[in-house]
Amino acid sequence: MNINEAQLFYKTQFDLYGKDINYPELDEGLAAEVVEQMGRPFTSVLELGAGKGNLARCLAGRGKSVTTVELVPEMVEYARQLHTLGVTSLCGSFYDIELPRQFDAVLYMDGFGVGTDAEQLQLLRRICDWLHNDGAALIDIYQPAYWQRTSGRTMTLPGDVSRTYGYDEALDRMTDTWWSTDRPDEKMTQSLACYLPDDIHDLCKQADLEIVAYFPGGAMDFEAWEYHEVASLAECLSYRIKVVKV
Ligand SMILES: C[S@@+](CC[C@H](N)C(=O)[O-])C[C@H]1O[C@@H](n2cnc3c(N)ncnc32)[C@H](O)[C@@H]1O
Repeated sequence: MNINEAQLFYKTQFDLYGKDINYPELDEGLAAEVVEQMGRPFTSVLELGAGKGNLARCLAGRGKSVTTVELVPEMVEYARQLHTLGVTSLCGSFYDIELPRQFDAVLYMDGFGVGTDAEQLQLLRRICDWLHNDGAALIDIYQPAYWQRTSGRTMTLPGDVSRTYGYDEALDRMTDTWWSTDRPDEKMTQSLACYLPDDIHDLCKQADLEIVAYFPGGAMDFEAWEYHEVASLAECLSYRIKVVKV
């Protein structure tokens, strides 16, 4: 997806679904995970693609100083009007925003893969520049095998929104199509690149980043309609990589 497509998709998703639906216990759980996975004391955090800023607010509640970068102005406005001490919400694209400083931690949760491989590499190089020498980044990566398996699944979400998953085998990208259930003619699709652990390892290496840990996420069992918090690296929906400067 190019920038304009991404901005339109995430702004529409925010209007349709994101504005009023919150899961605070999941946000707190994610903040606790980040602290655990960082594995050492840290203070300054850069969060990319921060959405409504829910994770940033939870981390600020744990004493972190968080700068967020988010593309969609409406989401940045949502975060800013909450005036959370310790959070600076910036509106812009992580491909070209000027951030003349470094951080202990860089986070990109649920969203890496929006661009082409070349753009992902450009972003990884920027992440390397934004890290202190002893800093670490945590980045969620979509696992191709899960999304190949999940292709064709359709579901209805709270707020009368429908969603269907697909997989583009030629490009190795999952597709995620949303529409308001009563307006099936107005569908919009995001597509996100999926990387096997070896492939993201190679991409990180090109950006002078070394993967020092892989944390598998969960997986949805669509037959039982149950989400399993723990899945193997090969079967999870996404896995988180921890990267440091080489
Ligand atoms: C799938 S959402 C995840 C939001 C949030 N991290 C979360 O886990 O709830 C991806 C986010 O990345 C943002 N995004 C996409 N491309 C971006 C870019 N070039 N610069 C900054 N943010 C971007 C989108 O607007 C969207 O809010």
